[in-house]
Amino acid sequence: MTSPVLSDPMRREVLEGLSRASKELSPKYFYDERGSRLFEEITRLPEYYLARAERALLERWMRPWVAELRPRSLVELGAGSARKTRVVLDAMRAEGCGEVFVPMDVSAEFLLETAKSVRAEYPGLRVEPEVMDMTAAESVTLEIPTPTLYALLGSTLGNFYPPEAVELLGRVRSWMKPGDALLLGVDLRPGSGKSVDVVEAAYNDAQGVTARFNLNVLRVLNRELGADFDLEGFEHRARYDPAEGRIEISLRALEDQTVHFPGSVIVSLEKGEEIRTEVSCKYDRASLAALAEPAGLRIHRWAQDEEDRFALVEVRLDIGPGV
Ligand code: TRP
Repeated sequence: MTSPVLSDPMRREVLEGLSRASKELSPKYFYDERGSRLFEEITRLPEYYLARAERALLERWMRPWVAELRPRSLVELGAGSARKTRVVLDAMRAEGCGEVFVPMDVSAEFLLETAKSVRAEYPGLRVEPEVMDMTAAESVTLEIPTPTLYALLGSTLGNFYPPEAVELLGRVRSWMKPGDALLLGVDLRPGSGKSVDVVEAAYNDAQGVTARFNLNVLRVLNRELGADFDLEGFEHRARYDPAEGRIEISLRALEDQTVHFPGSVIVSLEKGEEIRTEVSCKYDRASLAALAEPAGLRIHRWAQDEEDRFALVEVRLDIGPGV
């Protein structure tokens, strides 16, 4: 008989990542209740310009974009607390469209709380939360009126390596019908507008909230898988890789580490060895188009802030040349 803990898909995925030459963990394990709250805190940090830049862009552009699209449904992937989603919902309400809101997230507890508060704030809106792991290829059938506006905000697309980002976009595309649109919030590459320092500071805040968020993943593994990571034995690291155009976030062992998992599985790390926990890809128009096109999508609108830090992008089905 196999113990549930030993055959657990999470355990399998975690141990596979930790057995690679360059150790890696899936970012989805960040978002337990505590992690989701810490992430909310990140979005309010002075260094985390992404959230403010995105909100300002939503406030500037959602009314006109919604006026043209007239979506009857809004589906948000990785909704979290849906704080910025309210800007989209407000635009829909002001334009007199929008009947259904489907927030999707891996964190069930958080999602249900979000659904509850959105329901209270938007009487008459049908709110149908979907607990979903966007990285899993499960099929979803949404019975919702069209046109539908899908949204993947908060630079979440950037947390996928390019092949997985194409896969994710392709999955959303497979749900889309003609007339639907997908709204993306993407962080831009450092260049004329912002320096590498500004980007790196967004992931190395002075208060150490990002460090706590990053280390929280080890707490999740200890709790969910019965591992014994020493949280004091690792430090948070985040740096920009200009060749890849992305921030790489990792946990670095401060000393040699021996970590035990039930079933006599041992993972060892040498002092200085890192476990990569997240990437945050930064884009320009060409690199985003290079992900959208193989997924069957094309950039329909692109708006960025005056400081060239962040972009709000609307993509649509690519239905061939001349359209
Ligand atoms: N989507 C966010 C981003 O790429 C996620 C994020 C922000 C994050 N700060 C982080 C992920 C720190 C891991 C660690 O900006």
